[in-house]
Amino acid sequence: MRRVLVFGGLLVLVVLGPIFVNGLNPSMNDDVLGLIVFKADVQDPHGKLASWNEEADTPCNWDGVKCNPRSNRVSELVLDGFSLSGKLGRGLLQLKFLHRLSLADNNLTGSLSLSLGQLTDLRTIDLSQNSFSGPILSDFFQKCGSLRSMSLANNKFSGEIPGSLSSCSMLASLNISSNQFSGQLPLGIWSLHGLRSLDLSDNLLEGEIPKGIEGLGNLRAINLSKNKFVGEIPDGIGGCMLLKSIDLSENSLSGGLPGSMQKLSSCTDLSLRSNAFTGNIPDWIGELRSLEVLDLSENNFSGELPTSIGKLLSLKILNISTNTFSGILPEPMSGCENLLVLDISRNSLSGKIPSWIFRLGLQQLIFSENRLNGSMDNAFAASLGNSRQKLVILDISHNALSGEIPSAIGDFSSLQILNLSRNSIGGGIPLNFGQLKSLDILDLSQNQLNGIIPLEIGGATSLEELILEKNFLAGNIPISIGNCSMLTSLSLSQNDLIGPVPAAIAKLAYLQYVDLSFNKLTGTLPKQLGNLGHLLSFNISHNQLQGELPAGAFFNTISPSSVSGNPALCGSPVNRTCPTVLPKPIVLNPNSSDSTPGSIPTNFGHEKKILSISALIAIGAAVVIVIGVIAITVLNFRVRSSASRSAAALTFSGGDDFSQSPSTDANSGKLVMFSGDPDFSTGTHALLNKDCELGRGGFGAVYRTVLKDGRSVAIKKLTVSSLVKSQDDFEREVKKLGKARHSNLVALEGYYWTSSLQLLIYEFVSGGNLYKHLHEESGENYLSWNERFGIILGTAKSLAYLHQMNIIHYNLKSSNILIDGSGEPKIADYGLARLLPMLDRYVLSSKIQSALGYMAPEFACKTVKITEKCDVYGFGILVLEIVTGKRPVEYMEDDVVVLCDMVRGALEEGRVEECVDGRLQGKFPAEEAIPVMKLGLICTSQVPSNRPDMAEVVNILELIRCPSQGQDELGGVY
Ligand SMILES: *[C@@H]1O[C@H](CO)[C@@H](O)[C@H](O)[C@H]1NC(C)=O
Ligand SMILES: *[C@@H]1O[C@H](CO)[C@@H](O)[C@H](O)[C@H]1NC(C)=O
Ligand SMILES: *[C@@H]1O[C@H](CO)[C@@H](O)[C@H](O)[C@H]1NC(C)=O
Repeated sequence: MRRVLVFGGLLVLVVLGPIFVNGLNPSMNDDVLGLIVFKADVQDPHGKLASWNEEADTPCNWDGVKCNPRSNRVSELVLDGFSLSGKLGRGLLQLKFLHRLSLADNNLTGSLSLSLGQLTDLRTIDLSQNSFSGPILSDFFQKCGSLRSMSLANNKFSGEIPGSLSSCSMLASLNISSNQFSGQLPLGIWSLHGLRSLDLSDNLLEGEIPKGIEGLGNLRAINLSKNKFVGEIPDGIGGCMLLKSIDLSENSLSGGLPGSMQKLSSCTDLSLRSNAFTGNIPDWIGELRSLEVLDLSENNFSGELPTSIGKLLSLKILNISTNTFSGILPEPMSGCENLLVLDISRNSLSGKIPSWIFRLGLQQLIFSENRLNGSMDNAFAASLGNSRQKLVILDISHNALSGEIPSAIGDFSSLQILNLSRNSIGGGIPLNFGQLKSLDILDLSQNQLNGIIPLEIGGATSLEELILEKNFLAGNIPISIGNCSMLTSLSLSQNDLIGPVPAAIAKLAYLQYVDLSFNKLTGTLPKQLGNLGHLLSFNISHNQLQGELPAGAFFNTISPSSVSGNPALCGSPVNRTCPTVLPKPIVLNPNSSDSTPGSIPTNFGHEKKILSISALIAIGAAVVIVIGVIAITVLNFRVRSSASRSAAALTFSGGDDFSQSPSTDANSGKLVMFSGDPDFSTGTHALLNKDCELGRGGFGAVYRTVLKDGRSVAIKKLTVSSLVKSQDDFEREVKKLGKARHSNLVALEGYYWTSSLQLLIYEFVSGGNLYKHLHEESGENYLSWNERFGIILGTAKSLAYLHQMNIIHYNLKSSNILIDGSGEPKIADYGLARLLPMLDRYVLSSKIQSALGYMAPEFACKTVKITEKCDVYGFGILVLEIVTGKRPVEYMEDDVVVLCDMVRGALEEGRVEECVDGRLQGKFPAEEAIPVMKLGLICTSQVPSNRPDMAEVVNILELIRCPSQGQDELGGVY
């Protein structure tokens, strides 16, 4: 608010002019007024101008302001780096006595509309490092006769340099670098005889450099680099005898060096880099005795190097790279004792590495891409101890060197970059590389190195890049590589390395590029590699690696070309499943025979995680099975004796009593027929007659007998009598089972109870059990696909029904599925476990779930509650058994094949169709069989909650059978 008022007031002041100034505020002089107007025009986010108070009598003690002590008028305004933004207003024009205006390093914008003519005393103006833009108007340089130094560098000024610049006749320093000035240089520029420093670099200036430069007898430094100048260097340049620094780099200048330049004996820096200069380096170059930096790189200079270079005793940096120089390095160069950097790369220089070269005490020696030959031995041998320790960069790559790497390399203790790649160097890698504690980059690639990668390499603890590719290195990758903890790039490809990829590599946390391709590496990749967080590339192609790729974001999406050529490697990137790897999710798409894994239906939950413990479960199951087998053997022994005892008791108790009914007499037993019409035609003899025995199970033997009405029934004599509950409990459970009526269930017709004998009376089913149909039929008498599908569906329906009735089967297996005359399945033995006094895991697993392979894994795990999902598991196994025609567990000579593991593996390898029963090959629809098998696998999920409900299973099966009708629905469900 206050600011606005002030600003408004100032506007009035400015408009009405100084007439009123004294009247309004007698203490406010022109300088205060000018500065306050300046302040009002800019933004001052950091409050740097807070001390600027318009009520002050004088601005002389304001920040950034200096006054001439005699006149008390402002002579200097230095606001460098005040973070001011906004435009430069006319307020400054009030500062009539200003000598120095410096506003460098702010954020000021807009064009310069004012004219220096009004600031007649101005000597120095520095507007560099702002964001000023637009052209410099010709007016700007009016009456700039007192100006000594001007910098407009680092802004966005554009347009041509106005010719009026020549009126600034006292100008000693002009810096307009890093703008967008264009067009040709004004001719008048060379009339600025006082000019000592001219910096026009980094603009868009073009055309030839005008003649007449020799007039600038005071010029010390000229920088025309990074423009678009063409033509030759004006010969007059030799007249600028005081020139120390000449930078013409990055233009399109051509021709040779003008002879007059030899007069520039004060010149210390000459850069002609990146132009189109041609011709030789003239002999007179040796006359430039002060030269410290000579950069002729990136031109078309040619011929041999003049020996006179040896006279440049002050030379520190010589860069002639990227030209077409030929011949050898002249011996007199050994006199350039101050040389620190020698870059002769990318020429056609030949001969041996001069023996004097390492004596110079160079820091950088860059010889790459020439034709140097011979061995390094001489040069190394001639080097002196203390000069060895100065070398930081040695690059002799891409020459024709032969011989071996001298072991003296270990003495170059300051080396950071050593590049000897692309030569014909043989022999081994010297052990003492490990002494090079500063070495960042070691590139010995594309040579003929042999032997091993020495363990000692781990001593080079600063290494960031180790490039040894394309040699003949043998042996293992040394584990000591793990000590090179800064390593980002490791390339050992195309050697003869053997053995494993050491886990130590996983310690190299900064690794980005790893190339181990085309070796003979074996073994599995260390899992820990998955932890490397910066990897961009990891190429292990064309080795003999095996097993699983490490898990993790990088390896899961590794490009196939990085892993190809390892026949035994597995994981998704190589399109080969690992036997022990996390199985891929199973997709249920009944309309597709494509077995490539995709996404798991969400209903089926966390399949992936759980299955990884399948091996564990298998071991657990095996243990339980063994215990079960022993228990059954023992129990069977006892059962046989008790069976004969109870049969005897029955006989003694009065023969046909048993068939008299209903009876509540405890001694003679109680017979209950749910249909209310019991009438046995035969007596107990059936129970003793082997011919009438239909089979035996965990609960006892089953006999066939015929009722008086001619109906056959199956009688199950429970041999677990001592385990059965009290009569009340028994009757309650049996009645519950008796209520279950479903076309795919073997109906329980009734029961008989005495304390020593319990019988269950079932509907008789004629067609034998599924086990026999699957595994004991021979010849052409096998179940067709449609029959099998019908059995699966019927079984599923009956289980769904039982579960709805809250009855768990507990004992699903193919021998408990009977097939009736019309091929329909009927499930037997459901719910019998409920007749046991305790629903004990031991009993369940040993007695009931003893059938090998059908037992859900939760039976082996005390903490998991056993639910109806154990039936879903058994059903899943059954499905696989029916489709494959194989037993849940098959014993081979010295191998055990677990059916569901086998099918799962085949599915992941995309050859699940091969699992279908051999007798059906060519006679089944893959679009049904494959989803059915996938469904079986889902049902055998290791965690109960991941298995679908039987009701869901029925739905899915119906969809599989009629895919055309079910497709949309399935899509909607999943
Ligand atoms: C200049 O202004 C920009 C935004 O306008 C800001 O991000 C930057 O920090 C400023 N620079 C200085 C030196 O104040
Ligand atoms: C010109 O100004 C730029 C930016 O302030 C600076 O880097 C450069 O050194 C100056 N040139 C000379 C010759 O002083
Ligand atoms: C794996 O299969 C995909 C798709 O069929 C293919 O693009 C990829 O190149 C294969 N990868 C390998 C290593 O064969």
